[in-house]
Amino acid sequence: MSPTDRFRDIRARLAGRLELGWSTEITRYGLRRDLSVPFEPPAAKIPISIRPLVTADLGPLLGAADSSADVAEKREAAVRRAFSAKGSGRGFVAVDERNGTPCYVQWLFGAKDNSFVEKMKGFPVLEPLQALLENAYTPLNYRGLGIMSAAMALIAERADDVGADEVLTFVQTDNIASLKGCQRAGFNPVMLHHSKRGAFGLTRQDSFEHFMANDQRRHARF
Ligand SMILES: CC(C)(COP(=O)(O)OP(=O)(O)OC[C@H]1O[C@@H](n2cnc3c(N)ncnc32)[C@H](O)[C@@H]1OP(=O)(O)O)[C@@H](O)C(=O)NCCC(=O)NCCS
Repeated sequence: MSPTDRFRDIRARLAGRLELGWSTEITRYGLRRDLSVPFEPPAAKIPISIRPLVTADLGPLLGAADSSADVAEKREAAVRRAFSAKGSGRGFVAVDERNGTPCYVQWLFGAKDNSFVEKMKGFPVLEPLQALLENAYTPLNYRGLGIMSAAMALIAERADDVGADEVLTFVQTDNIASLKGCQRAGFNPVMLHHSKRGAFGLTRQDSFEHFMANDQRRHARF
């Protein structure tokens, strides 16, 4: 990455820190898909297939956000680039079958990745048969085509490869597009993650509120 691009990413991520302010609370749903329950993956509005992420995919995936005027979009791109640079193992992309362009990315972790997951902060320690799907991203020009739900449903099934029979994912309670995408991909809420951030994100306190079996929030529709 060129020094200019590195500076652009640092600036975008610092802006995110500043937005957190002196004290804030972030609430995320933890959603779960049980892989032993048969589930028909939804189809996207374009033909897609899934394959592992390679570094060359990051340009086409994140380029539109980099040149967008929207600061939040620039930050989404910077966060994923930083995440990929940290060597987070199993990234998957969906590819637009019509032209081979990568059109969705998401990372899968198993219990063996717990030390990396712990470093990401804000996630429970994965149990031996659990996997985690994180950092979903659809490029601006591919949004609204049902790609997230179709791709996430397929990538979740790759959790088999890490020996998991259930998959978790976490989404902020106000990210309706992502919550809808997760639910269409077979995920339903099982907990809330409360994260108190202080001093522009430099301090944090995380707690997980697991829903009882009869908790109506398990049946929330987004
Ligand atoms: C969240 C995201 C991955 C969804 O990608 P996508 O491929 O466009 O998702 P889908 O096309 O499957 O759309 C999901 C649903 O959300 C809806 N949706 C899209 N934007 C929305 C918005 N701003 N408000 C409410 N619903 C919205 C879509 O209409 C669709 O529902 P519908 O089928 O009932 O119309 C994409 O918006 C994104 O990359 N956002 C930035 C990064 C992010 O938030 N990642 C998730 C982190 S948990």
